[in-house]
Amino acid sequence: MPNTGDSKPPAHNEAAVIRTPDAAAFSAAGQKIRAGELVAFPTETVYGLGADATDGTAVARIFAAKGRPRFNPLIVHVATLAEAEKLGIFSPPALRLAAAFWPGPLTIVVERRPGTAIADLVSAGLNTLALRIPDHPVAQALLAAAQRPLAAPSANRSGHVSATSAQHVAADLGDRVSMIIDGGPTRHGLESTVVDATSDDIALLRPGAITAEALERVSGRFLRRVRADPDAPSSPGQLESHYAPTAALRLNARTVEPGEALLAFGSVLPATAGPVINLSAHGDLVEAAARLFSALRSLDAKGVKTIAVMPIPFEGLGEAINDRLTRAAAPRG
Ligand code: TXA
Ligand code: MG
Repeated sequence: MPNTGDSKPPAHNEAAVIRTPDAAAFSAAGQKIRAGELVAFPTETVYGLGADATDGTAVARIFAAKGRPRFNPLIVHVATLAEAEKLGIFSPPALRLAAAFWPGPLTIVVERRPGTAIADLVSAGLNTLALRIPDHPVAQALLAAAQRPLAAPSANRSGHVSATSAQHVAADLGDRVSMIIDGGPTRHGLESTVVDATSDDIALLRPGAITAEALERVSGRFLRRVRADPDAPSSPGQLESHYAPTAALRLNARTVEPGEALLAFGSVLPATAGPVINLSAHGDLVEAAARLFSALRSLDAKGVKTIAVMPIPFEGLGEAINDRLTRAAAPRG
């Protein structure tokens, strides 16, 4: 049986639950974020499982804690539009939506600004970023204390419903996060609406707390409805735009053919004269997940026809890594 990570929680004790967050608590929470730890916090929609979006290993810990069998792109939470514009490129329609609905439960997908510090794993290798400014004093105070953009999916285990109270978060993830900041029950209890504003033809990717009609009023046009991907109900419309390398992938490789690049894992590597990137020399799946997308891109950029990929164990985050590799290796039309 592949292990989804449920029986292998990260080495954490039960989370500290902060019931009346004061300045000292936020300062401690900010330090934890900068140290790569996970902090759960309330937003106006649902509780978020937050990590430093610029730290790939911290982001990999989000997927490990949720026990997700797949990498899906995460929302990046920022405090201001100026910060959002440092990370992503906003078209005029995207700016109009931001001006009308931020802070608030609207997530806007925009192009990643080249050279942004956001970890590749946050957007699962895509060239886009999902951004939002949460309308909640606790979320804002955490952003101010952390001084980092926060990657945060809903704070529930994979397959469970989104958490709308600190008690729900504690029951689901209490042994997998460093801290849970209690802000009481969330106002909307429903996730943010996600729109793709990478072109003028704005698309509704996920219905949520802001209605499509409200968005259409502000943008003055109809939203394109993207059919939900039946394979991944939580990430509608994502499959076709997922990053795929140009090179072919050869999985479970134990040798390297001439002309191939090697995506390695572990300490014992097959001989090769070609380019090599090791996902984790000491076989750490969290480190491997953090490096996966940038490693694929770097090897792809070498212009090789094929990337030979060493076997990755199917345990913990290995399941999501293998899922991603298998889909990248599938024949393309
Ligand atoms: O209300 C919310 O949005 C909550 C709170 C914590 O902010 N967060 C949340 O995150 O629901 P999550 O990870 O459960 O959902 C993120 C959604 C998914 O549907 C994902 O596919 C989409 O946003 N998404 C993220 N990045 C994307 C991208 N670059 N392109 C398209 N869709 C993206
Ligand atoms: Mg979710």
